[in-house]
Order: sequence, then C-alpha cells, then structure tokens
Amino acid sequence: MIASILPTYSRAPLTFVSGEGSWLTEADGRRFLDLGAGIAVNALGHANPALVDALTTQAQSVWHLSNLYNIPAQQKLADALVDKTFADTVFFTNSGTEACELAVKMARKYWFDKGQPERTDIITFSGSFHGRSSAGIAAAGSEKMTKGFGPLLPGFVHLEFGDLMGLTDALGENTAAVVIEPVQGEGGIRPVPDGDLKAMRELCDANGALLILDEVQCGMGRTGKLFAHEWAGVTPDIMMVAKGIGGGFPLGAVLATENAASGMTAGTHGSTYGGNPLACAVGAKVMEIIADDAFLAEVNRKAGLLRQKLEGLVSSHPDVFEAVRGSGLMLGLKCKAVNTEVVQAGYAQGVLTVPAADNVIRLLPPLNITDEDITVAVELLDAAAAQM
Ligand SMILES: Cc1ncc(COP(=O)(O)O)c(C=O)c1O
Repeated sequence: MIASILPTYSRAPLTFVSGEGSWLTEADGRRFLDLGAGIAVNALGHANPALVDALTTQAQSVWHLSNLYNIPAQQKLADALVDKTFADTVFFTNSGTEACELAVKMARKYWFDKGQPERTDIITFSGSFHGRSSAGIAAAGSEKMTKGFGPLLPGFVHLEFGDLMGLTDALGENTAAVVIEPVQGEGGIRPVPDGDLKAMRELCDANGALLILDEVQCGMGRTGKLFAHEWAGVTPDIMMVAKGIGGGFPLGAVLATENAASGMTAGTHGSTYGGNPLACAVGAKVMEIIADDAFLAEVNRKAGLLRQKLEGLVSSHPDVFEAVRGSGLMLGLKCKAVNTEVVQAGYAQGVLTVPAADNVIRLLPPLNITDEDITVAVELLDAAAAQM
C-alpha cells in the first residue's frame, strides 16, 4: 500500500521535534549538530529569536495579502535587495524552482520584445540543479531527473561543466541566456573559477545573451559574500535566489536589471503566495542580519576555521576522505568511502551532513554557527570517520 506521504523521498529514520541554533533534537532528547541546515535554508540557525520575532510580529498584524494590493513587508525586502545588489527590480516566489521558471520566462520575453523571438535557447551545464518543475528538469537535463517525464520543455542546450570552449561555440543567434550556479550545490560543491565566470560574462556580452546566475544554494552569505558572484567581480542580468533568504520560511526571488526585466509588464507573471507578508517580514530580517559587512566577515573567519579543521580531518582519514572543496560555509568533503555511508556514520555520532553528486558530503551549517560548534562538528565527523 502506498504511504500516505507520496514516497518520493528516501528519508533517514530521524524525527526532530525542536531546534535551537545549530542543533536539532529528537523526541527522546537526542541532539544532532546540524551541518545541513535544511540544505542551506536555516541560514541563521533554528528558532533564531530575531526571526521568530519578525514572524510573530507580522502574524499578529496580517498573514496574507493578495498582490492585488501593496504589501509593505515585500516593498521593504525588495528595496533592501535592490540596495545591496546589482538588481533594479525583484519578483518574489515561494521557492527556487519558481525562481527558475520566471528566470527562463523573463529571458525569452526579453528577446521576444526586442523583435528576436527566435532567441529562446537557454544554455546550461552538466551537474547543475535548478529545481524539479518541467523547466527545472529540462534545464538540468540529467537523465536521473528527466527520465519518464517527457516530453521535456524544449530550448535547453547542455554543455559540460567548465566547458568554456563549448560555450564559445554554443552561443549563437538563437541563444536567449546562459544559466549557471556560481558554486554547484547538488552537483557536489563545485565552484566555478572566478576567471571562468568572468569569461562567461564576456562571452555573453559579446553575443548579447543574458547571464542568469542560480544563487539559490550559494547565495545569501553562504560563500562569505552576500552573493557568490561578487567574488568574481561580475554581475548577472538575472539571478535566482531562495533557500537562505527565508531563513526557513518558504521564500524565493528573481532579481534582475531593468533592461533584463523590461518585458515583464503587468499581467505577464504572478503568484498567489509569492511575496506573502509573513515570508517577506522574515526575509527582510534575514537580509538586515546577513547583508552586514561585520556579519559576512564573521562568516569568512568561521569558514577559514572550519576549512582548516576539515583539512586536518581529511589527512587523519585518508581512507574515508579525499579532499575539502567549496567556498565559505558551502563546503564539500570529497569521499573515498561511499558518501551516503559517511552521512549515516555521522547520524550515529549525532552530526547531520548532506550527500551530493560526485561522492561528496556537503557541510552547509548555519552561517552563525559558533566556534565551539565548529570544533564539536569536526570531532563528531572524526568519530564518524573512525567508525567507518
Ligand atoms: C541551485 C539550486 N537551484 C534551484 C533549486 C530549487 O529550489 P527549491 O527546492 O526551493 O525549489 C535548488 C534546490 O536545491 C538549488 O540548489
């Protein structure tokens, strides 16, 4: 008999009933150090008092307002995002997948309005992940996600990750946009070198194609800058954001330049819940905390500390781990042992990590993890590796 919850997830036998900071607790009191943070969602930890306050204050005033009306919390968050980024305008969604949908629509509408309706192709890269909608799986293109779900949304061109020569050849008169994650998450914590991102920007400019960055996982302070592309000193035309921006409340966004967004006029897109007051009140508080130089400096300091300890862990367990990779607090341990078994060994020791492709385990702790918890994290991972 089918389970009452559609069985699309293979879940670990863990049931958490509460959380505080970087820790989650099961009903029997067993505590787990959460280095997954809901896959980069709980960016400010569990039950963060500032976010609880923002949410409950908003909840006592108004929960939902249709986008038929002005929504002050949405305006506040949009202004903050525009103020701190390349963007001139923002559309709010409920998830990263929906951000991907709009990014694709926006790029195609841009060219349609420019009188070049044939420019519909979107170039993407192997190992990428942009969500599970029809556009999202067509964009990523991997058989694992697309098999059985055809016919796929047409107009996606797939290149190998890192293939700049291929990009040079693929950019043509039918290209609408290039989509790339500055640091691949699901693909196994694979950063795009700064030089490559710069080269992509230049290639897009030469062709006219829009550059869409998917910062759903690597954005919102995760790499130690507010957005990962800032390290490379380039800006996109369109950017997808989600996960950390809501700190655990469902929220996503598409940020764009005025030029890239020029086709999106009244009636061209919409969402019932997108930009909901509860989500935006929390999002505005998350932005206030994360988009602060002192906070980001701490993320970088902690990232350095964690990375240094992880390098030690890798050298102590050469049979389990191969290397540390990633950026900021978006780190991956490339495993020699089977990554899912390392994750399981972590469960036995009370530490949560997340598997990714390329036999990697992901460490995406809350950005405000304490130094003490970083020390405990590596001790628990050390015990897990010793147990393998
Ligand atoms: C880079 C990236 N893009 C898009 C998505 C889809 O986001 P969501 O699951 O919120 O729809 C994810 C989710 O893991 C992601 O990591």
